[in-house]
Amino acid sequence: DKRLKQVMLEAHQFAANLYQYVLKETPYGAEALKYLTRRGMSAETLTEFQIGFAPDSWDFLTQFLAKRDFSLDVMVEAGLLAKSDSGKIFDRFRGRVMFPIQDSQGNVIGFGGRLLETTQAKSQPKYLNSPESPLFNKSATLFNLHRARPNIRKKKQALLFEGYVDVVSTWQAGFPLGIATLGTALTEQQARIIRRNVDSIVLCYDGDAAGQEATSKAIHILQQADLKVRVAPLPQGTDPDDYIRQHGAEAFSQQVLLQAMPITAFRLKHLRSQYVINDEMDKAGLIAKALEIINELDSPVERDMYQRQLAEEYSLSLNDLKWESKRVYRQQ
Ligand code: GTP
Ligand code: MN
Ligand code: MN
Ligand code: MN
Ligand code: MN
Repeated sequence: DKRLKQVMLEAHQFAANLYQYVLKETPYGAEALKYLTRRGMSAETLTEFQIGFAPDSWDFLTQFLAKRDFSLDVMVEAGLLAKSDSGKIFDRFRGRVMFPIQDSQGNVIGFGGRLLETTQAKSQPKYLNSPESPLFNKSATLFNLHRARPNIRKKKQALLFEGYVDVVSTWQAGFPLGIATLGTALTEQQARIIRRNVDSIVLCYDGDAAGQEATSKAIHILQQADLKVRVAPLPQGTDPDDYIRQHGAEAFSQQVLLQAMPITAFRLKHLRSQYVINDEMDKAGLIAKALEIINELDSPVERDMYQRQLAEEYSLSLNDLKWESKRVYRQQ
């Protein structure tokens, strides 16, 4: 078992090196290299993250692994290769930009593979990740934690993103504190791993409906793990990588990271976005929900602050609002 894992680790590092070589040194990687360059990734960043390209071939990696005497069945179990119903073994990753995923010691244990925009077939998922394997436990792994951990500990701060590209792009822009989940929802185990390194985190998910929903879920899990959570606001329809390319690193720091909201403010904002107010009934409903959120705060000073903001926003008397708050509280 130990020996099996060792072989799988060797194969992953071999594949990572090969994919990097293809990207940088061969004509097969030219289009991908152009694509990544167009997306703003520097040569240095590509090297730092060991980013590569899996050529659009059914047997490119398969042939290389066979030549190096790796057992192809073990390679299927490791998730580098796949096997058809008829027993034919072939490359799992074809025509994809390859982001190596590393464990806490820096060993490559899996990949996230992205289709090139130009070759993007509708039937194919944009990202294909390695399957679970003896090496790769998705719910216990965070992309880039190995690389960012010393910075996270020193700065006592971490940034949690949705995507690999967001981590890479923010790192390149001078924010080396980013980690990401692996295309799956944040797990309790991941939250506990984060908590072992830092006690506060900024959630920096995409500025779209899916990102907001994922943020709400992540807040809960991170708080359960005893992390202080703030939420960075991104304009509708942009993600951190888009934002940096459009507005630059300085704006990302000033307008996104430094504007990170405490979770009550985020929840109130999220609530407002869910309501279209047509009449007084809608408004009363929204205010009752807002008061429920505010009532969950332990600090009376903070409760008072948010109540004042709410009163002002909806032109209510603070007295009426406090009275309503008590009524809501009794029903909570
Ligand atoms: P770019 O489009 O390259 O900028 O990537 P992105 O990170 O912005 O992608 P997106 O916001 O759509 O998704 C965020 C993360 O979800 C990605 O980094 C992946 O980990 C995951 N993801 C996105 N699309 C897919 C998919 O089709 N399949 C799987 N398994 N995961 C996906
Ligand atoms: Mn998507
Ligand atoms: Mn998204
Ligand atoms: Mn995104
Ligand atoms: Mn993106």
